[in-house]
Amino acid sequence: MTDQAVMPREPYAGYHQPKGIDEDAELTHIGPNTPCGEYLRRFWQPVCLTEQLTDLPLALTIMGEDLVAFRDKSDQIGLLHRHCSHRGTSLEYGIVADRGIRCCYHGWLFDADGTILETPGEPSDSRLKDSFVHGAYPTREFKGLVFAYMGPPDTMPAFPVFDTLEMPDNEMIPYAIHYPCNWLQVNENPVDPYHSVFLHSRVTEAHFNVAWGELPVVEWHVKEGGKGVHLTNTRRWKEYLWTRINEWVAPNFAQTPDIYQNPDREKFFVRAALSKWAVPIDDTNTMIIAWRHFNDELDLDGKSDRTDIGLNKVDFLGQTSARSYEDGQRIPGDYEAQVGQGPINIHALGNLGYTDTGVALLRRTLREGIRAVQEGNDPPLLAPTASGNVPTQCGDVIVNVGDMSEDRELQGKVGQAIGRIIAETENLPHRERQAEIENRVRTYLAER
Ligand code: FES
Ligand SMILES: [Fe+2]
Repeated sequence: MTDQAVMPREPYAGYHQPKGIDEDAELTHIGPNTPCGEYLRRFWQPVCLTEQLTDLPLALTIMGEDLVAFRDKSDQIGLLHRHCSHRGTSLEYGIVADRGIRCCYHGWLFDADGTILETPGEPSDSRLKDSFVHGAYPTREFKGLVFAYMGPPDTMPAFPVFDTLEMPDNEMIPYAIHYPCNWLQVNENPVDPYHSVFLHSRVTEAHFNVAWGELPVVEWHVKEGGKGVHLTNTRRWKEYLWTRINEWVAPNFAQTPDIYQNPDREKFFVRAALSKWAVPIDDTNTMIIAWRHFNDELDLDGKSDRTDIGLNKVDFLGQTSARSYEDGQRIPGDYEAQVGQGPINIHALGNLGYTDTGVALLRRTLREGIRAVQEGNDPPLLAPTASGNVPTQCGDVIVNVGDMSEDRELQGKVGQAIGRIIAETENLPHRERQAEIENRVRTYLAER
């Protein structure tokens, strides 16, 4: 952990500003054998879109390790260390085989689990291929994404199927976007609901609905045991009280409610519009690997464009490098704000305020998880319910409160109550949970 640098208090103090300050390596360095890298390796991580696996191998870097992914002709997905364990040629130039991948240089054949199947130039009695294995990681294909587990084999957790990924009548479109900056600043964005007021509304123009420009009252709801946080941001908009629940699950999964939400009618727990991971490529590059969700409760104004979702594209403003530099300057979006923090944001030069409560909470949660793993413990992990799904809390609740006072203290209390009601109903299936939430929220408001 790095200490806050001492800032000068006089004007024109450029010369006296602290310089040459290091990043917080404990939270930002993710390579093999780093504390944070070891922690992140204890979770399943998405590594690419399944559409990226063609008849050619795919070169990838994940958490500082150079890898190659492929789908062989018997439909196994392999994720191998990129450099051939004979003499190091990159397997991105390998030939995808009926089973495994064959190195182009001397024809060694590697199975998806790293077993060396053939060393064809070696004498027939050679035992070389049986004397070691090539580096490989277990993979899992799920709804258009490829996941891998890159930690110690004996601590591999169950693959987490979050409840939002098994919703009734819900279509999911996968996408992946490269951010040329450290994973942490991408990871922190979802727990900062205040940026929505400014970046997405007041500072430039309304990227989404104008209601986003209302300053919300935010309450943070910490998941037990350092497993993440969901935050209720409650706004008054006309006769409605709109509580938006963003969610972050340690270490790098987040969900956002409807980005095109229009609080013009009552809605009880419309769920996530996107579910995403901030996956470190290396210390200064990150991939957002995610799904956009579509169902008849989301985007009622029909603003989404499904054809604009995929590799390095998603259907809302300012998320990629695709726009011109000038456009990014005139109407900056999440991409400019996060990449603009520099290759690795220097925490000692930042000055956190009340509105950064979620960021401080996230950093503390990560630090605790990292240290738990360093001490030989398992990191905190959200568990599935009897349904097999891992319950989550992201969604929108919009309730007509008529002429109820605009009192911000009251908004905070309602946000607190809704955050609690949502967590207490997490074991119910979606439709029952919606009905129960509506019932309890109406009762809470009537009893006030
Ligand atoms: S370097 Fe790959 S087979 Fe020789
Ligand atoms: Fe944003």
